[in-house]
Amino acid sequence: MCGIIGYTGSNNSINILMSGLSALEYRGYDSAGIAYFDENNSIQTIKSSGRLSSLSEKISDRQISSLCGIGHTRWATHGKPSDINAHPHSSSTVSLVHNGIIENYAKIKSFLKSHGYDFLSETDTEAAALLLDYNYKILKYPIKAIAGTSAMLEGSYAFAILFSDIPDTIYALRHDSPLILGVGAGENFAASDITAKKKKTKNYIALEHGEIGCIKSDKIEVVDFSANIIKKPVLTASWNFEQAQREGYEHFMLKEINEEPQSIINTLHPRIKEELPDFSCDSIDFDRIINSERIHIIACGTAMHAGLIGRMLIEKYAKIPVNVEIASEFRYNNPILSKNDTAIIISQSGETADSLAALRLAKSLKAYTVAVVNVIGSSIAREADSVLYTWAGPEIAVASTKAYSVQTSLLCLIAIQMGILRNTIDIRFARKIVSELVSDIPEIIKSIINKSEIIHETAKRISKSDDIFFIGRGADYYLSEEGSLKLKEISYIHSEAYPAGELKHGTISLIENNVPVIAIATSEYLISKTISNLRETKSRGALTILICNEKFNFDDIDIVIKLPAVSEDLAFLPTVTILQLLAYYTALERACDIDKPRNLAKSVTVE
Ligand code: G6P
Repeated sequence: MCGIIGYTGSNNSINILMSGLSALEYRGYDSAGIAYFDENNSIQTIKSSGRLSSLSEKISDRQISSLCGIGHTRWATHGKPSDINAHPHSSSTVSLVHNGIIENYAKIKSFLKSHGYDFLSETDTEAAALLLDYNYKILKYPIKAIAGTSAMLEGSYAFAILFSDIPDTIYALRHDSPLILGVGAGENFAASDITAKKKKTKNYIALEHGEIGCIKSDKIEVVDFSANIIKKPVLTASWNFEQAQREGYEHFMLKEINEEPQSIINTLHPRIKEELPDFSCDSIDFDRIINSERIHIIACGTAMHAGLIGRMLIEKYAKIPVNVEIASEFRYNNPILSKNDTAIIISQSGETADSLAALRLAKSLKAYTVAVVNVIGSSIAREADSVLYTWAGPEIAVASTKAYSVQTSLLCLIAIQMGILRNTIDIRFARKIVSELVSDIPEIIKSIINKSEIIHETAKRISKSDDIFFIGRGADYYLSEEGSLKLKEISYIHSEAYPAGELKHGTISLIENNVPVIAIATSEYLISKTISNLRETKSRGALTILICNEKFNFDDIDIVIKLPAVSEDLAFLPTVTILQLLAYYTALERACDIDKPRNLAKSVTVE
């Protein structure tokens, strides 16, 4: 998390830094700060705790003219959000912004203290800044000082650095945490991701682990730790950045839910021919996948929940066993993988630190690695053996919505392709599901969004609750997990998801009068079981809410939200839209900051 921006060129850097930080604010919004060279070529620093608007206020009454500077938006890891802990961190020779974690900062701090350094903040970053100062004073050259500093640091970090005696240049170092260099005309940038310089240029260089960028207004050089020049290709971002505007919607989250139908079409259309999957536009080795002994799906958060749906579909259509693993657990659990396995890493951002580490681990164990990623050119996309892009466009709201829809629909298409190749699925059934997926599902999702009054009414009824429970069986349990996550992250209501049959093994003791229990029952085969479990909570006073297929009627359930007619195998898609809208309207009723919930960040680039 945390967002980094740097600018050097012929325009006033302050406006460009602030607009870059505004685009990066989704990465963290605990504090923000800038450091820049003024007209006299000395470094000035302004920082403020709280949202970027607080920094804007501090800047607004100053007349600043600057052609080169760096900026930062923070998601606090070490030290509470405060002006002092905000980045940049500086000494007389350097000013530095950081994304990542310096794991050995305490050791570095005591080393520097023994050399006479004083610390102002509680951050790990200040240790890196002062260590760079220490090395620069000894080694005299920026690259040597950066390399020497990096050799002493443990953890993950991306830095943008100003040296006080080199007024027109930004130095950038990538060590695991993401960093790109924007290539403009007479102006250049460093940034955590391409959205930060979207208004200026679509051209960028992707910095790799251990590379240092030397950025001047008229040229960019990338070098290794011995100052050897590394030739890097200039890439072009293909997103239409206009998508990253709210376009009249009250929140990005609502806009992004509305974009689900088109995002599904954009993701699936290029991969369908004659109503069957066709992955010829992707370089993916399906032979290797279908001959895998086991498939591992590894991801975090909502992407992991999408993986649970993927498991269900792959096991059903292709009959290959699938493990779904939380990336932060997978990486430290000595996973058993071999060259006979496939690891599918799912990530919207393509930068989640744990997912990236899991990918590297799977690769080192010789598994075939496939990334399902939304951000083009992101680290996970670049490092996997093969990449399948989801085409959802930029997702800005911290709570992921359309990314889940495209991830699960793409996993469905992958599962069908695997089933066809393994002869474990009937081809007519495959055609039916594919055509429903790409033609009917987007329309069904639109109809849910257009007739969302009952969801809004339900949100009003549950919005004053302290606890809310979700239950379901099979895919409906996986959807419960996602519905519960969405609700708690943006409405701050405590919520848990349970397999419907498991509630009575302990959690049912929490059910009292008016506690909402939301049952998801999209499977005809399981609905009577789930309804029995829901009734068990009703008889203990629960407010019962049911999401089910339109053909069912249950008069004794307090609120029934009906799904339009849809194949059971694809019911997860419209159901998740209902759950996302329920979370959205509940948070709206509670006047929460929906797009930027407290304590969270969109791109989690620390462990
Ligand atoms: C954060 C976000 C979630 C997201 C998760 C994984 O927690 O708030 O919305 O699902 O990271 O992110 P990824 O970019 O890897 O899908």
